[in-house]
Amino acid sequence: MPSFFITSSGTDVGKTFVAALFAHQLREHGLQVELLKPVITGFAIGDKKCDSAILLDSLGHSAEAERIVAISPWRFHDAISPDMAAAREDRTIDFDELVRFSQTNPLAGETEPDFRFVEGIGGVMVPLTESKTVLDWIEALGYPVILVVGSYLGSLNHALTSAQILERAGVEIAAVIVSESAHQPVPLADTILTLQRFLADVQVLTLPRLPNGLEGWREAPDLVTPLFLEAARANRRGAS
Ligand SMILES: Nc1ncnc2c1ncn2[C@@H]1O[C@H](COP(=O)(O)OP(=O)(O)OP(=O)(O)O)[C@@H](O)[C@H]1O
Ligand SMILES: [Mg+2]
Repeated sequence: MPSFFITSSGTDVGKTFVAALFAHQLREHGLQVELLKPVITGFAIGDKKCDSAILLDSLGHSAEAERIVAISPWRFHDAISPDMAAAREDRTIDFDELVRFSQTNPLAGETEPDFRFVEGIGGVMVPLTESKTVLDWIEALGYPVILVVGSYLGSLNHALTSAQILERAGVEIAAVIVSESAHQPVPLADTILTLQRFLADVQVLTLPRLPNGLEGWREAPDLVTPLFLEAARANRRGAS
């Protein structure tokens, strides 16, 4: 099954937004999607706006506690890096267990989904444990990465730094998605052109700023056709 890791150049850039729009759009094409948010910080029970709840919503599920627990086993209260959030609760993240979990389909059960997306946490180099970062998690999984970046002032540096770290580790970047920031110093097209110039071999896609905030992903332009649908069709042909 095609599996992808959604990471970003920093926190609050648009990973959840992109994961939700992928699920929404792929499901509109009749495809089955599994979304995982294995590690979540800043978590409070009953928060309907937490990442896990948004992801469940995009899958057409209500955000019952049981489902949140199923897709997000590592939940921490404080909105800080996972290693520190865990330490404050006298807990740790078992890295091997995290990698194993990220290869499962807790919502689908026995059914094999068409796509699996794992949303990371924060950016590429965020610490998960005393010695492991999100990059180690990505490398251990071997999934191609969807790198979500912004268009705010400073975003080029953050985006290119993240891309270079991933490339040096031998991680495949399936696409860079520029989710338009609320404030940007230049037109979005200029940011895209610059990124494409430095990332010549990578598909750079545009996600405009959408008006509806949290649920804006329902109105997003079609990103799944250029990114995934041709591959999905080829897989189905191969399987039949
Ligand atoms: N293209 C967009 N149009 C409108 N709103 C957006 C867009 N991209 C992101 N947002 C909004 O910006 C905020 C941050 O996005 P999101 O939660 O997806 O970031 P994130 O990278 O998943 O953050 P975190 O690191 O906390 O997981 C959310 O309120 C989201 O709805
Ligand atoms: Mg998120």
